[in-house]
Amino acid sequence: MMTTEQETFDALIAAEQRIEPRDWMPDAYRRTLIRQISQHAHSEIIGMQPEGNWITRAPSLKRKAILMAKVQDEAGHGLYLYSAAQTLGITRDEMTAQLIEGRAKYSSIFNYPTPTWADMGAIGWLVDGAAICNQVPLCRASYGPYGRAMVRICKEESFHQRQGFEILLALMQGTDAQRQMAQDAVDRWYWPSLMMFGPPDDQSPNSAQSMAWKIKRFSNDELRQRFIGMLVPQAEVLGVTLPDPELRWDEEAGRWHTSEIDWTEFHEVLAGRGPMNAERIRARRDAHEDGAWVREAAAAYAARTASHAAAAAGAAEVA
Ligand SMILES: [Fe+2]
Ligand SMILES: [Fe+2]
Repeated sequence: MMTTEQETFDALIAAEQRIEPRDWMPDAYRRTLIRQISQHAHSEIIGMQPEGNWITRAPSLKRKAILMAKVQDEAGHGLYLYSAAQTLGITRDEMTAQLIEGRAKYSSIFNYPTPTWADMGAIGWLVDGAAICNQVPLCRASYGPYGRAMVRICKEESFHQRQGFEILLALMQGTDAQRQMAQDAVDRWYWPSLMMFGPPDDQSPNSAQSMAWKIKRFSNDELRQRFIGMLVPQAEVLGVTLPDPELRWDEEAGRWHTSEIDWTEFHEVLAGRGPMNAERIRARRDAHEDGAWVREAAAAYAARTASHAAAAAGAAEVA
């Protein structure tokens, strides 16, 4: 009996094996991955902006070096992920065009402003913290290049989370004004970080298919619960208050009880009406345009090197 391509694919997924670029895969699986991985790559690259904003104003040389390393890591994450998406048959140019023409999505969290130094702490602690909860299970994603990229990314994300925590800890041990600044940043980033896990499970239409394909391993709500469980003891160590008066462990239900999340805000920001959407895309487009000469020079150099190599090969043949 002949095995169909679909059956081979299904068997690989069922056996927890990886799908590799040259394997047959259903079109919908390929499209889902291109969308998810490219959005993820865009998020890493756009995510450099809110923090890049503070590199020149970091309060000490040490803080500047740490922040610069962190922002560079995010650029690297973007590059691994663009490369992973390219193995599925989309070009880097197409993905860049989708982003700078405003046709691609990226994580809404990066459409919030970063007015104070404490935002660097809150972003590392909360945003990178949420990213870790989301991304650790993606290390086992069924698509090989994506899963492997996530392994390295997750190692770097743990450093990001720690550096954010440490910024907040230093502020919380400082003056009243510094403590106030830290608390204010936590107040602004807490809810948006919870929204990073996406809509509640009963309103998340694509989740079931992604789980069946073993791209996604846990539901949005499960991951959100896990994240809250991680934050609560850390908030205690920091001495910050998580801005949800209803937050408590519900013994009977075995889960964290929280206030309602304001999803109207989430949808507004997602629809491009967040405080910083236009600015983020403009900055990315300007950077792309300003870098045109670098790409042209690199292409000219590559062409010249190739023609020299060809000429040398020709000369060798004659000799
Ligand atoms: Fe990252
Ligand atoms: Fe990060």
